[in-house]
Parts: sequence; C-alpha cells; structure tokens
Amino acid sequence: MIGSGYVGLVTGACFAELGNKVICVDNDAGKIKALKKGLMPIYEPGLEEMVKANVKSGRLSFTTDIRSATKKSTVIFIAVGTPPRENGEADLSSIEEVTRIVAQAMRSGAYHLIVEKSTVPIETGAWIEYTMHLFRNKKASFDVACNPEFLREGSAIEDFLNPDRIVIGVSSKKAKAILTELYHPIKAPLVVTDVKSAELIKHASNSFLATKISFINALSNICDKTGADISKVSEGMGLDKRIGRTFLNAGIGFGGFCFPKDLSAFIRLSEKIGYDFGLLKEVEKINEEQKSFVIKKIEESLWNLTGKIITVLGLSFKPDTDDIRFSPAIDIARKLQKSGVKIKAYDPHAMKKAREVLKGATFCKSPYEAAKGSDCILVATEWNEFKELDLKRIKKSMRQPLFIDGRNACDPAQMKKL
Ligand code: UGA
Repeated sequence: MIGSGYVGLVTGACFAELGNKVICVDNDAGKIKALKKGLMPIYEPGLEEMVKANVKSGRLSFTTDIRSATKKSTVIFIAVGTPPRENGEADLSSIEEVTRIVAQAMRSGAYHLIVEKSTVPIETGAWIEYTMHLFRNKKASFDVACNPEFLREGSAIEDFLNPDRIVIGVSSKKAKAILTELYHPIKAPLVVTDVKSAELIKHASNSFLATKISFINALSNICDKTGADISKVSEGMGLDKRIGRTFLNAGIGFGGFCFPKDLSAFIRLSEKIGYDFGLLKEVEKINEEQKSFVIKKIEESLWNLTGKIITVLGLSFKPDTDDIRFSPAIDIARKLQKSGVKIKAYDPHAMKKAREVLKGATFCKSPYEAAKGSDCILVATEWNEFKELDLKRIKKSMRQPLFIDGRNACDPAQMKKL
C-alpha cells in the first residue's frame, strides 16, 4: 500500500484484518516511525485497535522504502495524495513519481498488479501504464487496474467491510482474478469494468452525492423564505426509493478533502476534454453561497458584527473525524473574524488541528465554557455531544440567546420553548 494517509492506512489495515500480509509505505519518516509505535496520524473510530492487532500478528508492517515493499508484493496499491492545483485540477505528480520507482523496483521474473486507489481523473490508468512501460524492469510483467475507494471518514472501517459495492477496473483476466480473490471475504456486489469506467465511477459518485447536498441546500433557502420545514421536505422526498433518504441533510455546505476537490477536478477534466459540465459548476456555487448565507443570517440577527463574540461548536468538516480540511466551520469562522468578530470555539476531536489554522480564536475545554458571554452560538458540525447539551444552562451563560443550528442538530420545538 503506497501512501499511508487516510485511504491507504485504513485500506491496508482492513486487508491485513482479512488475512493478507500488508506493507504500508509512506515517504513521511515521522509518520512511519509513529505508526510503528502504534500512534495514528488520524482519528478514525476502530483504526488504532485494528492496526495494533495486525502489527502484533505480523500481518501489517510499515516502511518508507517503496523499492523493498514493491519487490515483496504481488498487488501494489497506489494511495498517494492527489491534492488540488490552483486551477482546481488534480496534481498527479506523486502518482507519476511512485509509478516510476515501482516500475524500476519490480522483481525480475515476477508479476505485479498495480492498482490505482487514489481518486484520479479518467485516463490516469493509461498514464500509469505508459510510465510503467518506459521505466520498468524488462524481466518483470505487470497489469494496471483501478479500484476506487468509497470510504467515508468517521465510518471508514465499517464502509470497507460492508460496502454497497466493490468496483474493479481491469484489463486482463489475471488482474480480475487477483482482485476478485482479494475481495472474496467481503459480501457485496462486484462491478467489473474497464479501467476508464472505474475511474469515472469514482468521480461520478462523489459529484452526484455533492449534487444531492447542493440540491437540498438550495431547497433549504426556499424553506427559509417561506416557512416550510426542510427536514420534512427531505424526509418526504427521500422516502421515494428512486431518490433515497441519504445525503439529503441540509446544512452549511459540504467540505472535506474529497467532495470539494473531486468536484473541481471533475469540472476541469470535463473542460479539458471539451465538455462544459455547467451542472457541477452550479453545485459548487450553491455550496459556496451556503456559507455566505449563514454569515448573513448571523449578521442580520446581531445588528453589527464588529466586537461580537461568536461561539463555533464543531470545527471538523463532519462528525467523528478530526479532519478540518475544507471544513465549512473553519471557513465561516475565518470570514467572521475578518468582520471583527471574536471567535470562541470547541470541538471534541479537531481542536489540535484547528489551532494551527484558526489563529486568534479562543479554544475552550467544553461547549459550556465556549458559550459563556457569547452573542451567538453556531453549530457547524453535528457531533452527537451537541445534541445532548443542557440548553438551559447554555442560554443562561450567554450574553444574547442567539443559537444558529447550521446542521439541524437540535430539536426545534425545544429551542422554541427556550
Ligand atoms: C466522501 C464520500 O461519501 C465517500 O464515498 C468517498 O469515498 C470519499 O468522499 C472519498 O472520496 O474519499 P467523506 O468526504 O469522508 O466521504 O464524507 P461524507 O460523509 O461524504 O461527507 C462530505 C461532506 O458532505 C461533509 O462536509 C458533510 O457534512 C456533508 N454532508 C453530507 C451534508 O452536508 N449533507 C449530507 O446529507 C451528507
């Protein structure tokens, strides 16, 4: 498993759990050293226990050495980062670099299956194959396959072990047989396709889910203006099996390192091949507007923002993770700071990471401490903890009792009573 970030580490640990021998590789020596000691670079429920158990059993190991790991492996997953460039395109330079090293390190006489795991634009598989041919050890043979991941942060292990489907894009019978065997213990429909279609399935799935969220967020604005209840609208729509209930929760917008990045990469890719994907541009626009909308709402309720104290509850981009990348909570907090607001913040797991990017904010030990003396509370991430707050106590300690529930986490009837 080359790349021991969120995708590589979770996937590697789960494959080890299924009984395979897995070597997780990363070029970050500090991360590998920590992992060897059982220290996780991310907070993901169940991961630490799984990693420790599999290291102990000898099935899971860590190294910075791609070459030795390549020589020992039949299947080589590439799970390195594909961060966004300034123009929104995915930066694939790490994939190219890793491919070159793998190509040179292949063991003479061996067959290696190179599998794209990172989210990549369509045709990356063809580039990997071309690069492999250019640099390969001519005494080894290989295939390139695509096996997109559909894990969600916060429930990644559960998603890996109980997926809705497994997609493998292959170009040979041998590659198909190896991947089918690898996934055999998991009971889920297996979609076998060509490499390009598998690549497209990943981008299309994330873009479609983001479209669902932006659709419901657009509707939430109609609800806000007319007094209709977005939760009920979502329930009423979602129970239609053709629409589906999931990913229809309105809020302050989607974030994280996947949807925003994959969406803009897909838009750029479409442009490059001559198709203007206007629908997805609108999905992006609605998501940006949703954040401005909540700020406007706060401003209209507080008269002036300058000098006000605002409490942000929840900083991660969603609950059950400490990931703050492209988090709407951080984005909104920063924008409020620019308008002269003093931010008090609390998050059950993400404060360490948030401290590094949200300068000038006061980080508090509990939601109650964060609420003290505040003019407004914004629930930006729907951690379970916030659904069980003693709201009477909170209200008493605030300077003004303004509570903006950006994730529909609290019971409106109870809020109204207070
Ligand atoms: C997403 C996909 O759900 C995974 O299938 C995919 O594997 C992953 O990206 C990836 O490409 O690696 P993730 O980013 O972990 O997973 O998180 P999601 O649960 O999808 O949530 C993304 C964002 O949408 C969050 O900010 C969340 O708060 C927001 N969201 C989600 C809503 O605003 N409303 C909803 O109804 C659902």
